[in-house]
Amino acid sequence: MGQSRKIIIDTDPGQDDAVAILLALASPELDVLGVTAVAGNVPLELTAKNARVICELARRDDMPIFAGCDAPLNRKLVTAEYVHGKTGLDGIELPTPEMPLADGHAVDFLIAQLRENAAGTITLCPLGPLTNIATAFQRAPDIIGRVAEIVLMGGAYFEVGNVTPAAEFNIYVDPEAAEIVFRSGVPMVVMPLDVTHKVLTTRARVEGFRNLGNQAGRAVASWTNFFERFDMAKYGSQGAPLHDPCVIAYLLQPELFTGRHVNIEIETTGTFTLGMTVVDWWRVTDRDANAMFMNDVDAEGFYKLLTERIGRLQ
Ligand code: RIB
Ligand code: CA
Repeated sequence: MGQSRKIIIDTDPGQDDAVAILLALASPELDVLGVTAVAGNVPLELTAKNARVICELARRDDMPIFAGCDAPLNRKLVTAEYVHGKTGLDGIELPTPEMPLADGHAVDFLIAQLRENAAGTITLCPLGPLTNIATAFQRAPDIIGRVAEIVLMGGAYFEVGNVTPAAEFNIYVDPEAAEIVFRSGVPMVVMPLDVTHKVLTTRARVEGFRNLGNQAGRAVASWTNFFERFDMAKYGSQGAPLHDPCVIAYLLQPELFTGRHVNIEIETTGTFTLGMTVVDWWRVTDRDANAMFMNDVDAEGFYKLLTERIGRLQ
């Protein structure tokens, strides 16, 4: 195996974030330099705590975990306890973390890592609102050209929105931050609802996690069991979309996903469309393509990879 790929996971755990982080920690192809927490699904205090719960579950209390921005750039925070529960990780009782947060702010960690590592060697993996990433880019524009790639979960186009009729949650919470990131010029791969809604946590797949017989498998089964109730009621589907692990699965097996390199703009002023990812899928404008918009996935292959890797943990 070649040298492992350096990544930083920016996250608002969230059960699906938790599964993504476990997948990354179970995969030797990836070198997770740190985890930066951002306010999103639940307030920052909880996302910063949950990131530590997850890393301790993976027996990685050595992982540097930083608290980041506790509110969007210039809006009030919108959270999603109605999906993730009061703690943000409802579904299973896990011990209160003993590992401390790392000293310093997540934004300063992002800036320092991008300055200290060789240019083009770090991939940023945002799984929540883009506030930390945008703040780092605003505060230290010199780091933008040093980012190898951004692979994020967010946005929607043909699948339409999940928090408003037009917008997906991560983009909707901080559209100004998303605009900064999508216009940064950094090579981007986007995992929108168009693709995450094709990897549903069916009964068989949840049982596949539980049958692993390890603590991580039980946690993933319990989280997905809890997390899916909202989406199944809303969509009448056979399970919930497992959004965030698509980002990590792409790093491990990009061939699982297909999409198109297109222009994506972020709506920041619309009355009914605030936070919409406006995707020029049919290239009807002359706007430059700025992201790979994924819209299809080998769902069986995705769950095979995810289940096998979760099985490697305790
Ligand atoms: O819209 C889905 C996204 O919002 C996921 O990242 C989920 O964790 C929430 O952050
Ligand atoms: Ca998330």
